Amino acid sequence: MIRSIARRILAPLQAPRRAREKLRGVRPDVLLPFDMFDEALTGAEARKASKLENIYHKGQHRAWNGKELLAQLLERHGGIQLSDERRAAVQGLFAVILWGELAAWKISADLALRLEPLEAKLAATSQAHDEARHFYVMHDYLVLLGELPRGLGPRTTRVLAGTLSANTLAKKLVGMQLMIEPMALALFQMIRESEIEPVLVDLLRYYERDEARHVALGVLHLPRLIQGMTSAEAAGLWAWEFGELWAQLEMMRELTPHFEVLGLDVRRVLELGRAKQIRANQMLIEEMGSPIPVFDAFIRFFDARCAWHWPDDPRADLRGRLQEALRAANQGIGVIPTHLSNVAT
Ligand SMILES: [Fe+2]
Ligand SMILES: [Fe+2]
Repeated sequence: MIRSIARRILAPLQAPRRAREKLRGVRPDVLLPFDMFDEALTGAEARKASKLENIYHKGQHRAWNGKELLAQLLERHGGIQLSDERRAAVQGLFAVILWGELAAWKISADLALRLEPLEAKLAATSQAHDEARHFYVMHDYLVLLGELPRGLGPRTTRVLAGTLSANTLAKKLVGMQLMIEPMALALFQMIRESEIEPVLVDLLRYYERDEARHVALGVLHLPRLIQGMTSAEAAGLWAWEFGELWAQLEMMRELTPHFEVLGLDVRRVLELGRAKQIRANQMLIEEMGSPIPVFDAFIRFFDARCAWHWPDDPRADLRGRLQEALRAANQGIGVIPTHLSNVAT
C-alpha cells in the first residue's frame, strides 16, 4: 500500500529521466532543436538570413505546374520531333539529368532535415520541392521519347554518388550547389542555344530559373559552415572537391559521344560550366570575405587537363596538345562571360 502511494507520487518526477533514457542513442538531427532561435545575429548575418528566407518565398511564388506545362508545350510544338539517332543521344544525355534530379531531391531533402537555422532550412525545403518537380517532369518527357533510361555509365554514377554519400553538410553543399548545379546550368544553356528540340528547350528555361536559386543556397550558407571548421577540416573539404572535379571531367569524357551526335562542342560545355562554377565560388568568396586558398590552383590544373583532352585543334599531335595544356595551365582556357541568372542574392 505504502509502496504503491510512493510510486504514484514519484512517477511524475521520474518521467523526464525516463524520456531522456528513451532518447539516448537517437540521432540528434531527428530531435527538435529548441535552442535554434537562441543565437544573436550580427547585421550582416541577419541580412544573409533574410536572403536565404527569400529563396523559399521566391520558390513558392515561381513554382510551376509540370503536368500542365508539358501538355501545353507538346500542343504548342505539335509533339516531339527527333530522328532516331538524336532521340537516342537526348535519352543518353538526359538520363544524367533525370537521375541527377533525383540525387538533388535526396540531397536537398537531407539538407532540409539537417540544416538548423530556420532560413537555411526553408531554402533547402523549397529546393526539395523544386527538385521533385524537375524529376517527375523529366521522367514524363523521357517516357514520351521511348524507354526510360534505367541506369548511368560508371563515371557519371561516380559523380552523383560522390555527393550523395558525402559525410558532411559542407561537402554536400559544395558538391551539389557549387559543382553539379553550375555544370547542369551550362548544359541547359547549350541545349537551349542549340535548339535541338523545342519542347525540351522551352522546358529547360523553367529548370534554369529554379537551378539558379539553388546555387544561392550554397553561396549564402556555406560561409557559416566553412568558418566553423578547423584547418584540417577545411583541407579535407578542398581535397574532396579536387577529387569531385576530377570525377566530373571523367564523366564528360563518358558523355562525349552524345554531345557529338547532338552537334554540341564538349569543350564549350566545359568552359561554360567552369565559368559558372568559378562565378559561384567567387560569390562564396565575397560572402566569406576571404579567399579560398587552393581554388586558383584547382582551376589552372583542370584547365590544363581540359586542353589536353579536348584541344582547340582536334587534329593536334602529342606535342601540340602538350603545348596547349601548358598554355592553359599558365593562362587558363577561353573566357566566356557568364551569369547565374536569377540568383536570389
Ligand atoms: Fe533540379
Ligand atoms: Fe537544383
